[in-house]
Amino acid sequence: MAQTVLVVDFGGQYNQLIARRVREANVYCELISFEKLEESIEKTKPIGLVFTGGPSSFNDEGAPRIDAKLLKTGIPTLGICYGCQLIAGTLDGAVGIGPREYGKRTLTVKKSTALFDGIKKKSVCWMSHTNYIEKIPTGFTVTAVTETCPVAALECDSAKLYGVQFHPEVMHTEEGFAILKNFLYKICGAAGDWTMSGYVERTVAELKAKIGDKKVLCALSGGVDSAVAAALVHRACPNLTCIFVDHGLLRKGEAEEVVSVFRDGQKMNLIAVDASERFLTKLKGESEPERKRKIIGEEFIRVFEAEAKKLGAVDYLVQGTIYPDVIESGLNHSAKIKSHHNVGGLPDVVDFKELVEPLRLLFKDEVRRLGFEIGLPESIVMRQPFPGPGLAIRVIGDVTEDKLDILRDADYILRDEIAKAKLDREIWQYFAVLTNIRTVGVMGDERTYDYTVGLRAVTSVDGMTADWAKIPFDVLQSISDRIVNEVKHVNRVVYDVTSKPPATIEWE
Ligand code: XMP
Repeated sequence: MAQTVLVVDFGGQYNQLIARRVREANVYCELISFEKLEESIEKTKPIGLVFTGGPSSFNDEGAPRIDAKLLKTGIPTLGICYGCQLIAGTLDGAVGIGPREYGKRTLTVKKSTALFDGIKKKSVCWMSHTNYIEKIPTGFTVTAVTETCPVAALECDSAKLYGVQFHPEVMHTEEGFAILKNFLYKICGAAGDWTMSGYVERTVAELKAKIGDKKVLCALSGGVDSAVAAALVHRACPNLTCIFVDHGLLRKGEAEEVVSVFRDGQKMNLIAVDASERFLTKLKGESEPERKRKIIGEEFIRVFEAEAKKLGAVDYLVQGTIYPDVIESGLNHSAKIKSHHNVGGLPDVVDFKELVEPLRLLFKDEVRRLGFEIGLPESIVMRQPFPGPGLAIRVIGDVTEDKLDILRDADYILRDEIAKAKLDREIWQYFAVLTNIRTVGVMGDERTYDYTVGLRAVTSVDGMTADWAKIPFDVLQSISDRIVNEVKHVNRVVYDVTSKPPATIEWE
């Protein structure tokens, strides 16, 4: 196992960002709740601790606190914002209200210690606090200030305690990543042993030892997580079978691609079930979005179950669970649950002994890096989020084969133009919607009465909130021109300029 740093969550909005930065520095870390600090130290023997920020005021009743003995372990500890105030307040320092700072400030380094080694004497940092350190604890020195913050950084090197009032994890802090790396490498003595190649090696060895040639099953959805999980398990387990249910609601070329990447490229044992007719028959005449979802979800499970049964009992079932799904942190005690699951309910219908979740420790960006590491193509690894019910919730109203064809062609043009404009990595999700509105148009000298296609493109971090993407007009123009010229039965294209909330990303 790689060396571990514990990122101790006090409820800060940047908690996952801090963890991702630590990992970007090639150091493995886990995000834990402050309440589990003592037991987690016992369990993981960390080389360092990072205390996150948080919304609380240290002096308030009910504010998250830790036992002072946990600051005397000798484990290098870096407190950020609330975490920094917590160190001062838990020892014999004092935290007070104001001067508040929000936004960019000039950080002036007063003392070039290991934490600030090689850091510019003056740089921009990002502040976001209403409390400040009024009095530093005995044995500490102030190492940096801003115009308005008398203690922008402090430390007691002999006790291995360090604090910064600013946020080194955010991009706006110019020297932030360098400061974090100084903490990890110069203070904690990190070896930089968290790399994707190392992860593949270790995980494959563990899977080999655990699973050997026992029977393993995986449901491939075509999504990034299940694809990477399956390809990783495939490296270790010869007896892996993947089932891919094609519900006929995928985008143009997608089903063929899954089969070619996994069966031909990765040489995996893939059962591809073309169940499109079954799904379309079930969906016939149904126009209510939630009922469409329900029909697809149930049918999916039925098809999968029927295929899985043919294989008999399996020993392991692979799932593409990733780290953000399992983190239980800070002031929010419930685990974060994804709002939509692509393959919900599978464990209930498949006869298996144990779940295998080889991506459980990874953030999404690491899953993608891992995908590239094990040779999956960009089209799979960088795939944008795609809903389980597929195009059925992008054909507004009832779903027919003809409508799906129109939508696939329009959507393909949108994707093609976005890629040509090199916006595909910038926009989080983009797709076409076939509205059930028909309008009058004119083509040549003929009157037309055809469908309206809606274009949707959003920027987002996790899909919970989203902003509509500001696609340049000339790109929108090319998309619209091509769709009305190349796709039969479409004579009008509209662009959705609503954010989420109040709208949702999908139209249904
Ligand atoms: P909404 O439309 O709720 O979408 O703003 C947020 C994200 O979730 C995806 N989505 C789904 N994913 N099953 C899924 O697996 C679903 O039923 C479903 N509905 C929406 C959507 O594409 C977006 O990424």
